[in-house]
Amino acid sequence: MIEGLAPAKVNLALAVVGRRADGYHELVSVFARLDLADRMTVEVAGNAPDRLTVAGGGYSPSGLDLVLSAAMLLREHAGRPLPSLVFALEKRIPVAAGLGGGSSDAATALELAAAAWDIDLSAGERLDLAARLGSDVPFFAARTAAALVEGRGERIRALPAPTGGAAALLVTSESGLSTAEVFRVFDDGVAPGAGSPAAATTARELAAALEAGLDADAFAGWAPRLRDANDLWPAAVGLLPELAALRATLEERLRRPVLLSGSGPTLVALYPSLLEAQAGGRQLTELRGARITVTVLGNGQHREAR
Ligand code: C5P
Repeated sequence: MIEGLAPAKVNLALAVVGRRADGYHELVSVFARLDLADRMTVEVAGNAPDRLTVAGGGYSPSGLDLVLSAAMLLREHAGRPLPSLVFALEKRIPVAAGLGGGSSDAATALELAAAAWDIDLSAGERLDLAARLGSDVPFFAARTAAALVEGRGERIRALPAPTGGAAALLVTSESGLSTAEVFRVFDDGVAPGAGSPAAATTARELAAALEAGLDADAFAGWAPRLRDANDLWPAAVGLLPELAALRATLEERLRRPVLLSGSGPTLVALYPSLLEAQAGGRQLTELRGARITVTVLGNGQHREAR
């Protein structure tokens, strides 16, 4: 049996800088990996079709299909008969939440399937296959703690995580949001296909700061700028109006800026330490209709063979 982790991500900044002919959008975004992770195992199992079992509730079948799609894609890439695989997935990352859970599962499935079938993928091959599975999958396939992500999601510049144990408090509304829907509403807005230049500037400047080395305190100090550096915020609120009230409540109770991750609906407060994030979580014990998760940034091994 081979076992792996599929970590979540947050988008610290997300600029939409254009719309492509194929309908996808050009992004400039800073992704950071979280310790919060799904667990996955794979076993080789004879000739039956590949299978996936899931524990942990609230998953979206379309997201999980990516696990089996990853195996199918790798089978095609290998171009030779390979035994079937049985995947078991334990979901811990909230689904349809803007945390990349489904995409991360796909990247981990690709890695575990390659290990199970003894296929040696180069980093370039892994990224190409990942890009065919979904826009966020290359980030996870790049196995980096953080990255400046551009293009549709396939251009990855690896960055170090902040040093010294920065943490995040995640508040995920129980109503999920579909990324495709959020982009559709974005395109129906005032400037179809493009967000504000400010978000792209913030993303690039944060990337430069991470590259130069940011400690956890300095990193948390970026939160006021990052708060307004997600171009998908108006579209997410358009689809889920209660998100605006939830953010106002969180900012009042936590007394710090609250960011939107990806296409939402997860809201994120950044902290210089896990202890402070946990204390923040205790301010929210009476909050209803949302799931609260405290986690640290970076670190976390993707895969370990056993
Ligand atoms: O690539 P993925 O299937 O994860 O993307 C989900 C949806 O999000 C796409 O169908 C597309 O509508 C939108 N999207 C986009 N531009 C991106 C990434 C995603 O328009 N760079």
